Amino acid sequence: MSWRDFWNREKNTIYVNERHGALHDDLVAKGIASLVRSPDSVVLDYGCGDASAADLVARKCAKLYLYDAAPNVRARLARRFEGRDSIALLGEEALDGVADGALDLIVVNSVLQYIPKRDFETLLDGFRAKLKPTGRLVLADVISPATGPLDDIRALLSFAFEGGFLIAACVGLVRTFFSDYRALRAQYGLTRYDEKEMLALLAAHGLKGARAPLNIGHNQARMLFEATPDPAAS
Ligand SMILES: C[S@@+](CC[C@H](N)C(=O)[O-])C[C@H]1O[C@@H](n2cnc3c(N)ncnc32)[C@H](O)[C@@H]1O
Repeated sequence: MSWRDFWNREKNTIYVNERHGALHDDLVAKGIASLVRSPDSVVLDYGCGDASAADLVARKCAKLYLYDAAPNVRARLARRFEGRDSIALLGEEALDGVADGALDLIVVNSVLQYIPKRDFETLLDGFRAKLKPTGRLVLADVISPATGPLDDIRALLSFAFEGGFLIAACVGLVRTFFSDYRALRAQYGLTRYDEKEMLALLAAHGLKGARAPLNIGHNQARMLFEATPDPAAS
């Protein structure tokens, strides 16, 4: 099994229960919505997952594109959002489904850890082409080499305590220990970037970036970067 197979499952097994999934999606959607600067913005949530609270983002912008690489996730998105005026679902063609220079904001939250570095570099060129000159690319939940599973566990338990699902989270952690997720994490690892490396990569692909003080979502041990097209690089 690959990461792609893991995310392509009929049901997302990463959340310890429905409440965890719902609180997570809500927090991420609120985080993305807070990044939207104007109601006429065109936004892409790349690697959006089930995005069950995407309406919160769609209400803040003119158009929200959703894309996920996993066909089963796309099928669930279609069941939930097909026919909405403000939400456009991208299919297999991914970024090719958006015109160049069309986007005000691209958000990639908690996705880069599953993408090999070489593929990420190709993606960066695609993202830059799709952004307006004033557009912003936000890479969030980026994992640094300095953090490990214990940081994730600490963040999950604190989120679960506040969200009222602490017991389910403890049971979920035991389940994760014996799960495909842990096996895949041990086999393939997660792609990690430190701050310097990420800023250098962004610059190498014509983007001026900076690390922001706060990450989207519940895990502040992970990093958020915001970047804009560098006019000097085009
Ligand atoms: C941890 S989930 C994050 C989902 C969502 N962004 C969130 O924050 O809740 C990772 C998602 O990234 C998607 N993904 C993995 N590799 C991808 C790629 N190369 N392009 C687009 N999506 C990808 C997976 O299918 C999965 O839905």
